[in-house]
Amino acid sequence: MFAPPTALDARDFRVSLVGAGALGSALAKRLANAGYPFVSIVNRTLSDARRLADEIGVSTYSDNLSDLSPQTNLLLLAVSDHALESVAEAVSKLHLPFHRLTVAQFSGALTTDALGALVRKGAIALSLHPFQTFPKGISEKEVEQSFKCYFGLQADELEGVEIGKKLAHDLGGKVMLVPKEAKTLYHIAGVMASNYLVTLASLSSEVFAALGLSPKDAAKVIEPIMRQTLSNIASAPTIADALTGPIERGDAKIIERHLRELSEQIPHLLPVYAALAIETARVAIHKGSISQNDASEILEMLETASRRESESEQPSSPSV
Ligand SMILES: NC(=O)c1ccc[n+]([C@@H]2O[C@H](COP(=O)([O-])OP(=O)(O)OC[C@H]3O[C@@H](n4cnc5c(N)ncnc54)[C@H](OP(=O)(O)O)[C@@H]3O)[C@@H](O)[C@H]2O)c1
Repeated sequence: MFAPPTALDARDFRVSLVGAGALGSALAKRLANAGYPFVSIVNRTLSDARRLADEIGVSTYSDNLSDLSPQTNLLLLAVSDHALESVAEAVSKLHLPFHRLTVAQFSGALTTDALGALVRKGAIALSLHPFQTFPKGISEKEVEQSFKCYFGLQADELEGVEIGKKLAHDLGGKVMLVPKEAKTLYHIAGVMASNYLVTLASLSSEVFAALGLSPKDAAKVIEPIMRQTLSNIASAPTIADALTGPIERGDAKIIERHLRELSEQIPHLLPVYAALAIETARVAIHKGSISQNDASEILEMLETASRRESESEQPSSPSV
């Protein structure tokens, strides 16, 4: 699944970027630094194309796809997922040398099928998704650090795989080959690792709000323990080994107290607490810190609590 880098030369590419957003800007800066010659930058908002072109020293920038340089042999499409197919379609109608063009997109969820219009013209397609999060406007140093991640690579042709490996390697990362049919599962793993970490922090902050902490203060309290837990995950032999806390110790009495307190004070958090606690019990069993028998008392309590809560719940949309 994990593939080593390859031996193509960055200087043989003539790169154009469409989409100077958060990821597109980070990619262009990092690849330009790594010696990839950029020949044009196109973005729907002209000022962002100009800003990025200035930063990496490219003279051709535009808000119009027809200004893409005909010299381009590597086209990076870093537009929003919802725009990918239509932008690929629009590029396929231009007069470009498609038979010597490689086109890359960076979506976690979409496959090279989104680039079908360009493949039908003879281009090689690849999907290279950094398993990482890039907020807008991060510094050069943060960009460099952020790209030290895995890249989920999917391509239909060997040449696409080789170019994808080269790009990931020169960006500072490693490649994980993702079969086309597994792309949705791959994306779910990413959502769980990144988005739900934010959701967990937000849940913890909501509990802190019940004892009077502002979201800002709660974030200050939560951050060190989350950071240390991540560090424990990184250094432990397995993810399960990083687990601590009442479920890991098989402390049913404490869990019972949590459930009672939640049902009295913040009942809408009971289902998510119970669902996560059930999964945590599975992790503890896997770690070997509690036996299946120890776990059954806790699991029974959790399942009863979550059933009781869902029976008493009125169907409604979440409030924001
Ligand atoms: N940011 C991340 O953490 C991250 C991580 C991994 C993968 N990705 C992938 O990277 C790609 C870009 O995401 P992003 O986070 O960089 O998004 P972003 O910062 O919101 O930028 C989106 C880019 O797409 C352009 N765009 C949006 N709709 C368009 C349309 N209809 N026609 C033409 N251009 C359009 C935007 O142009 P305007 O600025 O003019 O609106 C902007 O350049 C996506 O495939 C995403 O899944 C992002």
